[in-house]
Amino acid sequence: MTSSELIQYQVEPGGTLTGEIVVPGDKSISHRSIMFGALANGTTKVSGFLEGEDSLATLKAFQDMGVVITGPDNGWVTINGVGMFGLKAPTKNLDLGNSGTSMRLMSGLLSAQKFETTLVGDKSLSGRPMKRVIDPLNSMGAKISSNDGKAPLVLHGNTQLNAIHYDMPMASAQVKSCVLLAGMFAEGNTCVTEPGVTRDHTERMLETFQYPIQKNKNKVCIEGGHTLKACDIEVPADISSAAFFLVGASIAKDSNLVLKNVGLNPTRDGVIEILRLMGADITLENERLFGAEPVADIRVKSSKLTGIKIPSHLVPLAIDEFPVLFIAAACAEGETVLTDASELRVKESDRIQVMADGLSILGIENRVTDDGIIIQGGTIGGGEVESHDDHRISMSFAIAGLRATDTILINNCANVATSFPGFVSKSRDVGLNITEAN
Ligand code: S3P
Repeated sequence: MTSSELIQYQVEPGGTLTGEIVVPGDKSISHRSIMFGALANGTTKVSGFLEGEDSLATLKAFQDMGVVITGPDNGWVTINGVGMFGLKAPTKNLDLGNSGTSMRLMSGLLSAQKFETTLVGDKSLSGRPMKRVIDPLNSMGAKISSNDGKAPLVLHGNTQLNAIHYDMPMASAQVKSCVLLAGMFAEGNTCVTEPGVTRDHTERMLETFQYPIQKNKNKVCIEGGHTLKACDIEVPADISSAAFFLVGASIAKDSNLVLKNVGLNPTRDGVIEILRLMGADITLENERLFGAEPVADIRVKSSKLTGIKIPSHLVPLAIDEFPVLFIAAACAEGETVLTDASELRVKESDRIQVMADGLSILGIENRVTDDGIIIQGGTIGGGEVESHDDHRISMSFAIAGLRATDTILINNCANVATSFPGFVSKSRDVGLNITEAN
């Protein structure tokens, strides 16, 4: 373990969140801008790119496959597209760090290449399920070796993929996107049907790059053999990073905070709907479009939250925001019940168990269920909690400090750099009493 992995956050109790904050660029959109930009004909210019470790891993992987990419420089990235068949065999394994999105999406497009690639990741990524992408890719004719359904993944390539109609067994945008990316190279029309709405950035970006797709309710189809046309992409601020401050300003006294340029794609905005159901005071200002993606400035003020039963259809629409929603639940009056969320157990950590453990340490009563958790609102105390190297766990417990009665220490927070570089200084600027130490 390096010393940077030992970063500990110390959060002093109380505080008020006020002023304006611009959180970093959307992670999902940043990954996809590199992938589609690399395969496009022409030069794609990206602004607002997330300079976090996850999206940088994707950027580096495409550089390793011969794509000339300049930046990021203050969020600007220029990608000299090589066309659908222009990637070159990398001379080494592609290291995707902590990034599930990189590994799952790239499996799709690399299965179709005329060369072999090996995808590796860190300890957390190497423990995450990849069978969910291997299965549909195998039925398209891909040849893939894995460590019993987990990374490292060897994509043997050198095969013509065939189109499939895939009924996705779980609501996963990564699996859907993987199949669609493979579908661009397959013979025929590939369709994916999803059991619940998942984020649609891949579909929106395909349209922006002028690659034809057909959408009908919960089904999306793509025909192989078309091309991508380079374009400019303006990446909105990430609603998943904004979520920490939506909850923070709701639970902290006398708060009045504006979050600028936040992506409000309707397949991602479940956190706002859930918080509003709990009684949060959230208003949207200056609603507009960044290309194909809706954005707005979000004003959030302190409010008195009440526990709710979280509607199941909102779960995939807020899937990354549950750790911090659990902090909202801890501060709410009464009980909050989450069900149908077993996907949370296979994220960067088992987010149900890890949050439950930390909440118990901080004195919040909770009960873990198979596919969710029941949280009893109460008083957050102080204590030392483990992040399990999961960025969103670290940031969620940092936000809990706003309503704590004592100091909260959070261990192993280096992983925050995967999605939210500058979290500590940006949080301090708007009023969180946080410091970090090695
Ligand atoms: C993502 C999809 C979601 C999400 C992840 C990013 C994407 O994962 O949790 O952080 O960019 O497609 P699943 O597809 O596993 O739900």
